[in-house]
Amino acid sequence: MTSVPAPVPSTSPADSDLVRAARGLPVSRTPVWFMRQAGRSLPEYRSLRAGTAMLEACQDPDMVTEITLQPVRRHGVDAAILFSDIVLPLLVAGVDLEIKAGIGPVIADPVRSVADVDALPGLEPEALGFLQTAVRQLVAELGPTPLIGFAGAPFTLATYLIEGGPSKEHARTKAFMYAEPEAWSRLLDKLAVSAAIFLRAQVDAGAVAVQLFDSWAGVLSAADYAERVLPFSRSVFDALGDRDVPRIHFGVGTGELLPLIGDAGADVVGVDWRIPLDEAARRVGPHRSLQGNLDPAVLLADRATVDREVRRVVEQGRAARGHVFNLGHGVLPDTDPGVLTHVTELVHELTAR
Ligand code: CP3
Repeated sequence: MTSVPAPVPSTSPADSDLVRAARGLPVSRTPVWFMRQAGRSLPEYRSLRAGTAMLEACQDPDMVTEITLQPVRRHGVDAAILFSDIVLPLLVAGVDLEIKAGIGPVIADPVRSVADVDALPGLEPEALGFLQTAVRQLVAELGPTPLIGFAGAPFTLATYLIEGGPSKEHARTKAFMYAEPEAWSRLLDKLAVSAAIFLRAQVDAGAVAVQLFDSWAGVLSAADYAERVLPFSRSVFDALGDRDVPRIHFGVGTGELLPLIGDAGADVVGVDWRIPLDEAARRVGPHRSLQGNLDPAVLLADRATVDREVRRVVEQGRAARGHVFNLGHGVLPDTDPGVLTHVTELVHELTAR
């Protein structure tokens, strides 16, 4: 058997290790990035953000550019993720909401009735000029490093709109889903359309991969997910049309949903820390890559534990068609940024071809 020659590191974002791993192609080493890498674990982020509200910062192209670049400079990660938020498209469309520090998105007038669903404003692509300016600036600054665009999936956005803020059980959301199936479909359809507009704006300005965050889908049974949620997430990916960018699909607590999460149209399935990647690879099958799945809490432990767990994730990731190293969920705010740099270097060292 002839071995495939390892590619030399690419100078083009569209041919980077991130994009190649996402497509199951050979890489020069396993690409690494961290969900929530742009944010509160970085002192340079905290000082830049001081005095500016989160959603204000998201609409300032220079701030978005600088905050997105900070973790790339500091850690040498293999991808940038746009500094923004899943609720930004709702705000831009005209929904009254804010992100409260330490709490998360809070909606002034939650969606609780069929009339509320029908009154929800739609997103106009023309309103996203600031976002496209930020993406273009970033692509120019990033050089060979790929930029990942993202959006919130319809279900996860619906939980914020219906609950009015973060929630544990998402009971109101599920009750609405069961009690008002037609309004539920209209709501998820609206959110799918706006997520697609948000993603297309980023890809058309130069993002070379996208991630759909369905963070809270894990609260659903597989049957409910398949019937009442998956079709709308699939329509977000479908709306990318012939834009040739790999699609990453992520949720927390989705062990039982992994095959479905893949079926919704993903090239890469994001996995949290509850399931080892070799088991996730069995569930997802040979036609998709995996992203994950170091427990973010491990980064708060001693160095020997960090190293042991990173090695385990790298080893188990070898079972996947392609592996993008990441955490199983976002970086915790009190993570020592030095540990993130160390993990990036260790993964690179362990996987250099
Ligand atoms: O990953 C990145 O570094 C890129 C930027 C990014 C943010 N939010 C910035 C942010 C991304 C990709 C998100 C996605 C997001 N936002 C998700 C999906 C990912 C996940 O964590 O499951 C969700 C559910 C949200 C909604 C949201 N926004 C929450 C739950 C919070 C945290 C509340 C808190 O303060 O603990 C936010 C705020 C937020 N979004 C911050 C950042 C950097 C913190 C705001 C601050 O600095 O005060």
